[in-house]
Amino acid sequence: MDKDTAHLVLTKKQYRMKTPHILLLLLVLCQTVTAQTDWSQIRNGQPWYDTQGNVVQAHGGNFLIEDGTVYMVGEDRTHSWYPDVNLYHSRDMQVWEYDGKIIQNGVTTPELGTTRMIERPKLMHCPKTGRYVIWCHYEASDYSASEVAVFSSASVTGPYRLEWSGRPLGIKSRDCNVFVDDDGTAYFISTIQENQHLGLFRLSDDYLRPLECTVLMRGLRREAPAIVRVDSLYYMLSSACTGWDPNQCMLSVSRSLTQGWSPLTPVGDRIAYDTQASGILTLRRGKRTLHLYVGDRWKDPDLPQSKIIITPITLRDGRCHFPYMKTYRLNLRKALVKP
Ligand code: GAL
Repeated sequence: MDKDTAHLVLTKKQYRMKTPHILLLLLVLCQTVTAQTDWSQIRNGQPWYDTQGNVVQAHGGNFLIEDGTVYMVGEDRTHSWYPDVNLYHSRDMQVWEYDGKIIQNGVTTPELGTTRMIERPKLMHCPKTGRYVIWCHYEASDYSASEVAVFSSASVTGPYRLEWSGRPLGIKSRDCNVFVDDDGTAYFISTIQENQHLGLFRLSDDYLRPLECTVLMRGLRREAPAIVRVDSLYYMLSSACTGWDPNQCMLSVSRSLTQGWSPLTPVGDRIAYDTQASGILTLRRGKRTLHLYVGDRWKDPDLPQSKIIITPITLRDGRCHFPYMKTYRLNLRKALVKP
């Protein structure tokens, strides 16, 4: 055996001896990389970009999480007015892939023309029909229509078809949201009757039709409602009606959706950190729950540059701790945040 061959044999021997160690090292490395990529960086106040390098346009929208994938719908305000509805998806809420315009003004509903404001599109997945359902504020350019539109699709990415549009149960309806209770019952909640009250509409089990309306917060002129349930208590955040200008976010809690809402109490700073709520996102991991306030920083400085703001909040014992974290790390899988 010459010197080079001896060296080769030795190397092979060493390799065999070290194989378990190398495998272990690789495993640790893999876990470290996974652990690192599990942590995404959320930067509030800055534009988000999708994987094609375009600014994310998803205002006034909401999120749907399925099998670890977060879907985000929202208004595409690239041209300020007459928004379309965009869909994105992400595994970490940092890297967003664009799925396209799932509702296009004047194209999805050519019979209704191109002069409709599609605002606050909210996506749900109906367990009974398996269909994806979107409720939104469907407005005329002078906000006189006060209507909703309901779309549905067999697939989250579309194509979506218009189910119906008009005033729910004949009631004038503007700023809106949806809420799905723990038993799967879905609700549409909106600012009704010329912004005077909130209307809570219980929906049919296919999520497509309103069955009944309960008037909440009578005369309090609230909008941008966002409801979440924590154990047996419902929390609702809402704003006053000041158009695109931010105002004080208020909390109300109740043990029942249809009655007993507590008087409004201020949360966060005087102008909700220059935002208006679009929703509260709940992340769960085992017994751990993380709530994220999702808001729009409108006109920053113009409508197309409005920002999506997401910040962790604490909902406990009927109170809401609503600080503002400009940047933080989020572990979607573990429902954790750290600075
Ligand atoms: C806000 C509302 C927005 C949009 C805007 C128009 O109060 O939350 O969704 O309708 O008014 O001025």
